[in-house]
Amino acid sequence: MVEFALPKHARPTKGKTWPRPAGAKRLTEFRIYRYNPDDDANPRIDTYFVDRDDCGPMVLDALIWIKSKVDSTLTFRRSCREGVCGSCAMNIAGMNTLACTRGIDEVAAPVTIYPLPHEEVIKDLVPDLTRFYAQHASIEPWLKTTTPAPEKEWLQSPEDRVKLDGLYECILCASCSTACPSYWWNGDRYLGPAVLLQAYRWLADSRDEAKGDRLDFLEDPFRLYRCHTIMNCARTCPKGLNPAKAIAHIKEMLVERQLG
Ligand code: SF4
Ligand code: FES
Repeated sequence: MVEFALPKHARPTKGKTWPRPAGAKRLTEFRIYRYNPDDDANPRIDTYFVDRDDCGPMVLDALIWIKSKVDSTLTFRRSCREGVCGSCAMNIAGMNTLACTRGIDEVAAPVTIYPLPHEEVIKDLVPDLTRFYAQHASIEPWLKTTTPAPEKEWLQSPEDRVKLDGLYECILCASCSTACPSYWWNGDRYLGPAVLLQAYRWLADSRDEAKGDRLDFLEDPFRLYRCHTIMNCARTCPKGLNPAKAIAHIKEMLVERQLG
């Protein structure tokens, strides 16, 4: 288990301890980061007790239980509840992961929950990912071609399709980028592991015809080369992907291009 640094707006004080649910026999304690931009008493850690016999098995179930039954002001993102939208990424027990796929019993109690580290916090567990999405847009994540479009569709052999495995599954949850010390220090200029994995996804696509332009954009001391192979990205990815490997492939492509 890798422990990551606390997020910006860290150093929280002890907040409110909410009452234990009456009559509950099986309780789990949650210590949750609270931050409200309109409140001076910031940030703080509130303590909640969840009735496990009345709640689903995942950390997201516990957050929804708390919001519905104890404290409606608790704020977090979620949508799909099955690990495909990426919106519930947060730092649970020191690890960036998805709240909807992390079981409550997989982490030691009391369960600590923070927002993804080193991003500005909008409220409670909601980080501001504006820059992250702008960086994703900067790599132009769509198929770029110069030859006339085929009548039906761009074809790809099964062998070429397999080259996208381990890349297309990325759900852009930002767990890896916000676990990366290089991204913490240079996030304004370094694209970070998630966006570089996405960049490689298009470089590896046999149908894409803009490899030269894509490599020109990435050949930069900060955008790509701030990766120092720290590997937090691969350790934390809740989808089991390896952004560091994708980054290594981009560096290989640049060397091969240089050697002609
Ligand atoms: S590589 Fe993994 S951790 Fe990074 S954004 Fe994609 S799914 Fe999330
Ligand atoms: S709610 Fe969609 S990934 Fe967790």
